[in-house]
Amino acid sequence: MKLKYFFLVLILSSFVISPSGIIDLNDLFDYENTYVPAYINKDNTTTGNEITNSGATLGRVLFYDKNLSSNEAISCASCHFQEFAFGDTERASLGVNGTTGRHSMRLVNSKFTHESRAFWNERAITFEVQATMPIKDHIEMGFSGENGDPNFDDLIERLNGLEYYPLLFEFVFGDSEITEYRIQRSLTQFIKSITSFDSKFDIGREQVSSNYNSFPNFTNQENLGKSLFFNSPFNGGAGCFRCHTGSEISITSNTLNNGIVGVIGEEEEVDLFNTKAPTLRDLVNPQGVLNGPIMHDGSLNSLMDVVNHYNDLVETDENPQLDSRLFGPENDLDLTLQQKEALIAFLETLTGDNVYTAEQWSDPFDDNGELIIIPLITGIEDVNNIAKVKLFPNPTSTIFSLNLPEGSYQLFIFDINGKLIRNTNPKTGHQEDVSGLKNGLYFVQIKNTDTKEYTIKKLVKI
Ligand code: HEC
Ligand code: HEC
Repeated sequence: MKLKYFFLVLILSSFVISPSGIIDLNDLFDYENTYVPAYINKDNTTTGNEITNSGATLGRVLFYDKNLSSNEAISCASCHFQEFAFGDTERASLGVNGTTGRHSMRLVNSKFTHESRAFWNERAITFEVQATMPIKDHIEMGFSGENGDPNFDDLIERLNGLEYYPLLFEFVFGDSEITEYRIQRSLTQFIKSITSFDSKFDIGREQVSSNYNSFPNFTNQENLGKSLFFNSPFNGGAGCFRCHTGSEISITSNTLNNGIVGVIGEEEEVDLFNTKAPTLRDLVNPQGVLNGPIMHDGSLNSLMDVVNHYNDLVETDENPQLDSRLFGPENDLDLTLQQKEALIAFLETLTGDNVYTAEQWSDPFDDNGELIIIPLITGIEDVNNIAKVKLFPNPTSTIFSLNLPEGSYQLFIFDINGKLIRNTNPKTGHQEDVSGLKNGLYFVQIKNTDTKEYTIKKLVKI
């Protein structure tokens, strides 16, 4: 009870609460049932760590929390930006002790891949194993335990001292203990929940039975590009699908080197063992602008550079790792300018829309880095079960209803700044007209005037 009053006071006293800044455990996003098209077959979920709404919610908080870095300045999202499909526009990303040795990877559709290992060179056997590697990396987040860095136990101690984590861990795992294993599981659930299936490609694919059919919503140029992508050079194509495969457009697990061998900042060095790429979806944003430089060394800066790279690549003794699937009957692909432009037009159809702004994958902290958790309200013995009162429909543009039991109640509506804007006395079957309110987020407090018990609901006016 005390806790709840405390949170109410927090909500009502703060002036700058934005829609982010609050996580209501009674009203989670649905991460479990995100839409996956029927033509997507690959699912690399680690058995026993299926996505749950609660686990992914905790993962979201961890992903955006700068407390996960030694200097409290870097979160996972500092190198994986939602607005860039969870990649980075910088060639090398900035960590707590310098910049990364490889380019950041986009984290879209990473659950739906043929290759289930993580990183460009596949050094993490699962995404769970991967999840805490950046935290323990001296350059990236700095809890390495070496060179004077704090270690992982120090991180756990810090997280224990933050108000929201004991609450969240208890909510997800049944008790409030914070462990590396639990952090790995929740971060992975969040990352694997990030999906992008509303691209022009998806709208077309939905209407046909195979990638080889002409898509009704594509231009001739896009269909030509698709055909080049999905056909082998022995068949007049460019052969991309031999490694970037399926409607997932994710990389096969037995791919070798693709001829990109650079090392960021080290002109003289070569690195032949980068054999994974993120899905080729969302290389560009909905405006057609690249989400960042391309390849593990960020050495290519346009889709034309990519196509030219593959077109001009020839076999060489200097690179024994080169994958033979890069080549056709001729050593180079011999694409015309028209074919190159078509291939680019096709790659641009792979971009979605929703993933760039959807709230469930956005920063839950407010502008001041604060986060309020509205705790789970369950089985309140002393009252009329007010927590079970439902407010519907929500979002609404006109009225909402309340399924109130018999009794006497007060209803308060607060705006996002905590300002009281309405106070009424609802009865059983009550309907509240909110058509006059500005669109936005509101808090509705429903209070039993006899018992003083109350509940707070988020209301979205559209
Ligand atoms: C300082 C920048 C930086 C930070 C911070 C960072 N990452 Fe990354 N991330 C990268 C880079 C760079 C790569 C590619 C590294 C490589 O392959 O060697 C990467 C790769 C990944 C991948 C592999 C994707 C794939 O498809 O194989 C995942 C997953 C990931 N990061 C998740 C996270 C999580 C979770 C956090 C926070 C705990 C995090 N990252 C923090 C820069 C960063
Ligand atoms: C033999 C396998 C193979 C073939 C064929 C192939 N690729 Fe790749 N591709 C890779 C590998 C491996 C990487 C990651 C390489 C790296 O960064 O070092 C990659 C990376 C990419 C990337 C960068 C992704 C990113 O997130 O930065 C793009 C774009 C791409 N390929 C497009 C294509 C296109 C277009 C074709 C056809 C013309 C093609 N690929 C053919 C193996 C292949």
